[in-house]
Amino acid sequence: MSNDSTAPSWEPATPEEHAAEPRAVAFAAAYPVRPIPASGPFTTGAANENPPVGEDLDPLWTAVVTETRTRSNDLHLPMAVSYADRLCAAYPQADALLVRVTTLLHDTGWAHVDEDRIISEGFAGDWRKAAIRYEHETQGCLVARRVLPGLGYSEEFIERVCEIIDGHDTRQVAYSLEDALVRDADRLWRFDAVGIGMASSWFGMTPAEYTDRLAVEILPELITEAAVAFATADLARSEALLKTAVLR
Ligand SMILES: [Fe+2]
Ligand SMILES: [Fe+2]
Repeated sequence: MSNDSTAPSWEPATPEEHAAEPRAVAFAAAYPVRPIPASGPFTTGAANENPPVGEDLDPLWTAVVTETRTRSNDLHLPMAVSYADRLCAAYPQADALLVRVTTLLHDTGWAHVDEDRIISEGFAGDWRKAAIRYEHETQGCLVARRVLPGLGYSEEFIERVCEIIDGHDTRQVAYSLEDALVRDADRLWRFDAVGIGMASSWFGMTPAEYTDRLAVEILPELITEAAVAFATADLARSEALLKTAVLR
């Protein structure tokens, strides 16, 4: 057991245990080539040229307005959904509604944890293992179970949403293509200048330090070919815009 006071009071599963889970093994066998090649079309335009598609999720957005007011979710969640929309076009075999709804809801749990601990624990030290990370996943599932039934989503669908929300930050392997697309959509906003602005301040880094980290740490974590293409194009645009080659 860790002595870190911010760590969970139980022993979390290790990355090796997650990778050995049957769902992880089945997904890895189904998609052995990484990053996963796209089977549909995609273009690498900037996020602000590709807003979220359609109005079908507007009732769900309305149901979680309160949850968007924490931790810049009112920037992060719409941008993540816009990337999810584009990923779903590139991977038409995925359940697009599941990916879009889950991406919209995945971080709503931040609104139901102790706000003072979000920065102090959620973005410091070994942040992936901080207890508050597990709490925001659990709380996000509670939000999904509260808002989705009244909007006509089936119990089976809601279970699939929660299966992805639960572990989206704290588990390092994906269990399905939909899980992988949510994970990539969640990371992609960071490569846009808006995400760089928010995340660099959360982590106490300069924009140049953060864009270096994106290239070295975050880009290699992306699971799909389309996400790698989006991230590469966004990062080049952001580095030029923010003059990170000089402002360092
Ligand atoms: Fe999260
Ligand atoms: Fe997120």
